[in-house]
Amino acid sequence: MVELENLGDWQRTHLAGQLRVADVGQTVTLMGWVGRRRDHATATFVDLRDYSGFVQVVFDSGRGQGAAYAKARPLRTEYVIAVRGVVVQRALEAINPKMATGEIEIHADELRILNDAQTPPLPLDEEKTSTLAGEEVRLKYRYLDLRRPTMQANLRLRAQVTATIRRWMDSHGFLEVETPFLIRSTPEGARDFIVPSRLHPGHFFALPQSPQLFKQLLMIGGCDRYYQIARCFRDEDLRADRQPEFTQLDVEMSFPQVEELFTVIEGLMAELAKLRGIELALPLPRLTYDEAMRRFGSDKPDIRFGMELQDISDIVRTADFPPYQAALEAGGCVKAIVASGKADYSRKVLDDFTDWLRKDYKAGGLGYLKVLADGIQSPLVKSLGEAVVQAVTEATQARPGDLVLIVAGTPPVVAASLGALRVEIARRERLYDPRHFAFLWVTDFPMFEFAPEERRWYAMHHPFTSPREEDLPLLAAGPAQWHRVRARAYDLVLNGVEIGGGSIRIHRADVQRTVFSALGFSEQDARQRFGFFIDALTYGTPPHGGIALGLDRLVMLLAGVDSIREVIAFPKTAHATDLMCEAPNVVEPGQLRELRLRIDL
Ligand code: AMO
Repeated sequence: MVELENLGDWQRTHLAGQLRVADVGQTVTLMGWVGRRRDHATATFVDLRDYSGFVQVVFDSGRGQGAAYAKARPLRTEYVIAVRGVVVQRALEAINPKMATGEIEIHADELRILNDAQTPPLPLDEEKTSTLAGEEVRLKYRYLDLRRPTMQANLRLRAQVTATIRRWMDSHGFLEVETPFLIRSTPEGARDFIVPSRLHPGHFFALPQSPQLFKQLLMIGGCDRYYQIARCFRDEDLRADRQPEFTQLDVEMSFPQVEELFTVIEGLMAELAKLRGIELALPLPRLTYDEAMRRFGSDKPDIRFGMELQDISDIVRTADFPPYQAALEAGGCVKAIVASGKADYSRKVLDDFTDWLRKDYKAGGLGYLKVLADGIQSPLVKSLGEAVVQAVTEATQARPGDLVLIVAGTPPVVAASLGALRVEIARRERLYDPRHFAFLWVTDFPMFEFAPEERRWYAMHHPFTSPREEDLPLLAAGPAQWHRVRARAYDLVLNGVEIGGGSIRIHRADVQRTVFSALGFSEQDARQRFGFFIDALTYGTPPHGGIALGLDRLVMLLAGVDSIREVIAFPKTAHATDLMCEAPNVVEPGQLRELRLRIDL
């Protein structure tokens, strides 16, 4: 058993990761955890870690430091220590260029062992952690995982982001208001987390999927400009960039021009980019939804690289190739992308792409032309004929060495397939600089989306989004025209990720009723779900609109990591569980009785 000591009157003077050659000669007091330890014949080397990074501490048996050397003998990884010593420049051959503090080390005079530790179940050494420890172990022992300087840096970046947001929003006249967590189960109720009420047996609260209605009510309440760093809860299927509870920067303003809102948000994005040393050029680019879909096959295009979709319907129309003819006759299209210099993709790679697009995007197939110096190599030469293939190559401006990839089908299938393929090829081939921040606005979303299986219309953004005024007659004209109604909705996209969405809202009760009815809510339905809100609209609602940005996604992209779990202190797993506290869990029968609930499994 190692003998533990108290901190006594020792005070930390420096952070381990911040010591540099300029500090040589200083006596410092450091506190933190034992990282790696190496023993040499006459000295023990220990990496001391705190949130700022590591520094090497030397316990030498000579130089009058024998007592500290002897005391260091029982040190193991993750013991908590305080060290007092002198900063010394390392000999040339001992410099570690991989370590920020690699030019110096601490020669320890005194050591206090403040606590011992079990052997950690995951290595906290950077490189090893990412390769050896599975994410499950990292999440089960999150408090250990958080000790790693990378996680510390992520959390600190997140805090800088929220501090910057507050400064920016406060200085632009936005009022920070908290909205409730215990609310009524309303809009897309199916994905609500519900909370039983003990005082009202058989009745439930819901946790908010977003503060949408409350922020609109704040506008009705005369708050003029509101923001909140708001926790949202959604019981939906998870992906790398989704969590069941996540954080939004939620914003709403009264009497807004879209330009005004964009300017506020763009200015904020520029401030946030500065945290990573990047100057954003403003205003940010904009694309309409139609153009984004046409050129990139996505409503959240990654514009860091080209490879845009090109319509070759008119060229292949002349060839008698049944799959393409069928697609065109059914009102579909045939489109292509050109992967520059990728004519060398193997059969296997192309087959894998084809299977993936068939399975995930319902593509009928994937055609390709390999443009080589001495001609075009492709099964399509036979089906389409030499001349058509040549015309496709010319129209798409493919050059020798390039690969042309072709999909035919309905516009949504073609867009989704080639849009996804474009992104996948760019990822494989590293066609972009990961440190490049390509923001853009996507505007003019359609108001409604038709769900063929359910034979009903859905609001593409949400039911409180205003149609464009000039499209109101289309709304009145009935379902045949609804696909043409455009919404006053916009998304903010960064590097192919939707980081925010918002809209100008409906502020008139009559328009809100019309939209509810288009969405299939009877008057009674609408009253039952949103009665309080419809009433509120009738008491003098100002025109208003806003946006919500996914804070976790934004920080993820700023940090340059590929999962939002890396920027959330205690995230849920991909299966929506908390492995550390083992939640969700069963509750005591007594608790259930008090809530008057019975489990029926
Ligand atoms: P929306 O549902 O588009 O809009 O959400 C806004 C942004 O929140 C982020 N986001 C998520 N982040 C992590 N995990 C999730 N499960 C998750 N779901 C959404 C995304 C998204 O762009 N009330 C409206 C906004 C408005 O109209 O003002 C809303 O919530 O980055």
